[in-house]
Amino acid sequence: MVEVATSILSIKEGKEADSFLKLEIAKTDYFHIDVMDGKFVEKNTYQKMLENVSYIKRISNLPLDVHLMVEDIKTAVNDFLAVAPNIITFHIEACNNKEEIYKMIKYIKQNSCRVGIAVKPNTKIEEVYEFLPYVHMCLIMTVEPGKGGQTLLKDMLKKIDTLKQYRQKQKISFDIQADGGINLKTAPEVKRVGTDILVAGTAIVMANDFKDIIDELKS
Ligand code: DX5
Ligand code: ZN
Repeated sequence: MVEVATSILSIKEGKEADSFLKLEIAKTDYFHIDVMDGKFVEKNTYQKMLENVSYIKRISNLPLDVHLMVEDIKTAVNDFLAVAPNIITFHIEACNNKEEIYKMIKYIKQNSCRVGIAVKPNTKIEEVYEFLPYVHMCLIMTVEPGKGGQTLLKDMLKKIDTLKQYRQKQKISFDIQADGGINLKTAPEVKRVGTDILVAGTAIVMANDFKDIIDELKS
């Protein structure tokens, strides 16, 4: 059964507390926290996401899935480790070389947090292969990172399928997460190609019944 991580990025100003409570009741599998620094991507959600996670921690024990879209990964890791997330995922495109990627993977794990690596649509899937034995998850962006409410890029489906086949061939175990433009229409094909965790933002926060939409995305 796939899991659903709800991206809180698109929750309307002032509706945060109400939406977080509804998501707790709807038992989303994860709160997906989109951290943006205004450099790696245009938007800056850094402070807002720090506030959001401390609030969520107070009202829910559901796991936090932190997606870092930042250049200064180490600072962001230190800031978000404070709320003991279940997993921290960073973009390999924000690292200057392989050593940096290995160092960051090790650093996150040394702080008893699970670690994921993320790739943008234009990054070849082969770029992640060597790191896969050392991470818990690989996040495939199915939209350009930077904002919610975009349309899923169909050619990312092939990328997910390739990754799933590579995982089977190499007998490594890690979760495949797809992030961006996932809704009731696109979820079936995203699941079919092997995704384990679906990230959905707009599709869930716009729905009037969070539990229904989350269950439908999973079914
Ligand atoms: C985009 C974020 C995604 C996005 C998903 O940079 O990483 O998590 O918020 O939102 P929807 O589901 O609206 O595409
Ligand atoms: Zn995300």
